[in-house]
Amino acid sequence: MEHREGRYACTFRVNGEEVTVAASPMDRVVDLLRDQLHETGTKISCGIGRCGACSIWVDGRLTSSCLLLAYQVEGKEVTTIEGMGTEERCSIVQEAFMNEGGFQCGYCTPGMIMAAESLLRHTPDPDDEEIREGLAGNICRCTGYSSIIRAVKAAAANLQ
Ligand code: FES
Ligand code: FES
Repeated sequence: MEHREGRYACTFRVNGEEVTVAASPMDRVVDLLRDQLHETGTKISCGIGRCGACSIWVDGRLTSSCLLLAYQVEGKEVTTIEGMGTEERCSIVQEAFMNEGGFQCGYCTPGMIMAAESLLRHTPDPDDEEIREGLAGNICRCTGYSSIIRAVKAAAANLQ
């Protein structure tokens, strides 16, 4: 991360734990997460809010962390893909993505799962159209979207 003058102690919560990082108010949250907190599940792809690879939740709201600045998360609850589950204990959505072949390269997958988990919280039994809408901000360049839609449907059924 670029070093700048005027850093301050920025405190927020990440996956349930309070963290304090030395940040300039204009540092991107995605860089704080990856470079300072080593939460590298959150990816950077387009860097301009178009692909969804950097999706996180801030106070439960799906957000692109490449567009978010440090001061905007001060005192807030940030959830990343690491907060969804572990390799040993996957979330139901993560498991469904694996079982249904919902990803190949995995670059878009963390963001896709953050969006899917968010969708299912608000719409527990989505139809195809609602799934497409829920994932509209997330781009995958290497799978067809049908396996992703199948994975979200399987997760929805398993969550009932
Ligand atoms: S890297 Fe943030 S939306 Fe693409
Ligand atoms: S699996 Fe999504 S971009 Fe490759």
